Amino acid sequence: MKQFGLNMENYQKLARQAAAEGCVLLENRNHALPLEKEERIAVYGRIAFTYYKSGLGSGGLVNTGKVDGILDALKKENLNLDEKLEEIYRSWIEKHPFDEGEGWGKVPWSQEEMPVTEEMLACGEKADAALIVIGRTAGEDQDNTDAPGGYRLTKEEEQLIQQVCQRNRRSIVVLNTGNIMDMSWVERYHPQAVLYVWQGGQEGGHAAADVLMGKVNPSGRLTDTIAKKISDYPSDSCFGSETENVYQEDIYVGYRYFETFAKEKVQYPFGYGLSYTTFSIEGKLISRIREKNGEIKIRLEARVTNTGECAGREVLQCYAQVPQGKLGNPLRRLVYFFKTEKLQPGESVSKMIEITGYDLASYDDGGVTGNRSAYVLEQGTYRFYIGSDVRSAAYAGECHLEAQVAEQLQEAMAPVSVFQRMKPEKEKDGYQLTWEEVPVRTVDQEERRRKERPEGLKITGDQGWKLIDVLDGKITLDAFTAQLSEEDLTAIFRGEGMCSPKVTAGTAAAFGGVTEHLQELGIPAACCADGPSGIRMDCGTRAFSLPNGTALGCTFDEKLVEELYTMVGQEIRLNKIDSLLGPGINIHRHPLNGRNFEYISEDPYLTGKIAAAQVRGMAKHQIAGTIKHFCANNQETARSRANSVVSERALREIYLKGFEIAVKEGGAWSVMTTYGPVNGVWTAGSYDLCTTILRKEWGFSGIVMTDWWAMANYEGMTADKTMRAPMAAAQNDIFMVTSDAKASMEEDDMQKQLECGWLTCGELQRNAENILGFLLRSPALLHMNGRICQEELDAMNRKEDGDVLASDLKNLDEEENGSILISGDLLHPKSGNADVFGIHLKKKGSYRIHMKLRSDLGGLAQIPVTVYCNNTLKTMVSVQGSEGGWLEIDRNLDVLMAGNHYIKFYYGGNGLEFETIRIYLEEEHD
Ligand code: BGC
Repeated sequence: MKQFGLNMENYQKLARQAAAEGCVLLENRNHALPLEKEERIAVYGRIAFTYYKSGLGSGGLVNTGKVDGILDALKKENLNLDEKLEEIYRSWIEKHPFDEGEGWGKVPWSQEEMPVTEEMLACGEKADAALIVIGRTAGEDQDNTDAPGGYRLTKEEEQLIQQVCQRNRRSIVVLNTGNIMDMSWVERYHPQAVLYVWQGGQEGGHAAADVLMGKVNPSGRLTDTIAKKISDYPSDSCFGSETENVYQEDIYVGYRYFETFAKEKVQYPFGYGLSYTTFSIEGKLISRIREKNGEIKIRLEARVTNTGECAGREVLQCYAQVPQGKLGNPLRRLVYFFKTEKLQPGESVSKMIEITGYDLASYDDGGVTGNRSAYVLEQGTYRFYIGSDVRSAAYAGECHLEAQVAEQLQEAMAPVSVFQRMKPEKEKDGYQLTWEEVPVRTVDQEERRRKERPEGLKITGDQGWKLIDVLDGKITLDAFTAQLSEEDLTAIFRGEGMCSPKVTAGTAAAFGGVTEHLQELGIPAACCADGPSGIRMDCGTRAFSLPNGTALGCTFDEKLVEELYTMVGQEIRLNKIDSLLGPGINIHRHPLNGRNFEYISEDPYLTGKIAAAQVRGMAKHQIAGTIKHFCANNQETARSRANSVVSERALREIYLKGFEIAVKEGGAWSVMTTYGPVNGVWTAGSYDLCTTILRKEWGFSGIVMTDWWAMANYEGMTADKTMRAPMAAAQNDIFMVTSDAKASMEEDDMQKQLECGWLTCGELQRNAENILGFLLRSPALLHMNGRICQEELDAMNRKEDGDVLASDLKNLDEEENGSILISGDLLHPKSGNADVFGIHLKKKGSYRIHMKLRSDLGGLAQIPVTVYCNNTLKTMVSVQGSEGGWLEIDRNLDVLMAGNHYIKFYYGGNGLEFETIRIYLEEEHD
């Protein structure tokens, strides 16, 4: 029987398993781990007490119940923890509380650490093992820095590790971080074990304990190369500029660079991770087949054996070395991976591996092979390496292939000005780094758009058809769309948010049926919510907090991720939401990118496979995963302005590849573009990105939306907030977000460009059909037409959070003029806080609320405030940062009776300052 309610126990189990299986064990000398039950353990580091479940920003604002830290979790396992040390930490933490920072875009990446004392060290000396927990958050709108407390350890952390390692040989460092950090200290202090536990969501503390205790044998593998120094990363000199970043490393990102040019700079290779057992892996090439249609298939066979003493899982990885040819290629490229089931000691498993010609092809953006704008296989020897990480993968065979075009495409998104990019050149014993000129753009995408413009349907006006009639096969989508007026077509382009009252409270946007007339045509308002690591509902509704993108990537387990995201899909559906704004699948180009925690890996193949699994999982409940940010969102610094200058080859092979896999293999039907420009064109208005590549080449048939309040440009101009016609022209179907779809018609150039014919009605109808196509697959349409069964509706009606107790109330009196004034000093606007006031109204009538407030944060900061009256949601305001200027916001509170009420303000973020809030009578009622 179909289960409608969420099986919480199962959900927790799966999330805990995923978080545990994503943990990466980098060192384990003398079997320092796992810990045994009766052992005495000294736990150091304040983050042992306050677990970082996720990074910050839109991807981290999941309201969740209490999250157990690593210390709590170990306690629940009945470990013998040093109580004196715990006490020392607790009393210090009381005096040095957790610093939340100022809010969006301005949070500290780490917390002050307690200076280590002799008394503390003595505790560790007596213990069987010492555990040191180090933590880092991560966040949107701010990059990490190569500084103490950021990418590097602080002085106090360094001293802690150094001294504890000296006093207890069995010291174990646990890293609760969003993504990788500097690891050079391992060489200096030699802790016996080092374990990355990432940010594992609400179950992460327990998952870490499972691995530390050996309940779960670690099987996570690094999704990034850890280099010895940050300056070793090939993008280091061209990352972080506020104006332009030239991607000179081209396709040589992560291990593609290190394995080709700089093996000696690697501290831990891509794909690396230890287990409590050992494995052997053997692989050999079996055959090379050319199918009747000319397609190449290469088969290999691999055998994994558990050669150690306890059960465990191994990640089999297969890398290809394709010929250098004329294009030049990295010496390794991940072309296949597979995670075994749990193997008992002595047990083996065999796996057939199939690799296609397309997996091995390289993109010729300059025509050097004679096939410009094509994926090509150059003639030569193709070698295969199989193993448990990129460095140790052993030769498994080779084959010779003739030159062949794997897919002919057309030039798209190429850069406009020449720059130098990396290329290998053969030397006696290896490859030397040389540079070559990047091919530049020869096509005009605007001309291409004009040529390809759809004809358009003749507008029929309202014929009485509803959208459900299309689902029921009574009319065609074209016939339905022809009913939409020009005004409808412009309105449907506008998403409404944040916190639109048309959809589930506290979510990012409503789209589709955002006006009365669109609703009359039976077009529902669909709902999307952040993502990616759980559902963000700013009004305080609780949701499940999931392991972050990096942690999920490190599992290398598509099956587990798909199973977990099937439950995520169910939770989303039960909250009456149609799409999750995730997974985030940008490439970890540089370790300091603030949002790497949301993203999966430096490798596009792994990224695409894990993202496809997430999308497939949610799709089982008709929920669309919105893959984001399309594309090259590789830093947070000046994310709306900094131009990414990238070759077409690097775009296709690295920055677009994960999206391509998520679309082709995961069936993704929702995409979010970025804030910034690529090669001079803001992605939200890039025809070649949103149409040529995404739809024409990959066969995508879903919706494309902008990032929140994003801009677009006409090529050659600088983007601004009024230029929205290029978005619609590019087939970026929805602008996110306006505060009111109808009232915002005047804000931009859509109408003007329609009138002069730059933008056509046919283009808007085409976009509307993309949106309607989405709605036809959405739960929103079923809700609107009463087609959700009673059992599911019952499962949705959960008890509301935030019941107010009488003792919470501060009572305020009405003033002479019928208004109630709350002065700013009575308010505590901190993330997750609520202020509640009892009020007494003398008159029945329509009331409004007026807030005077400000924030020092920047204009893209989102600081949600939700207003409830008597536990009913009245209004939600997503305040945008005002850089210190005062804002006045006025909202309706509806009709309130005379008498006692209470009013509650729930804050979803930090960084707000109120001068006053005034509740006032607009019109008296009898
Ligand atoms: C982020 C998106 C997010 C959106 C809605 C933006 O700031 O870049 O990833 O989905 O806000 O919250």
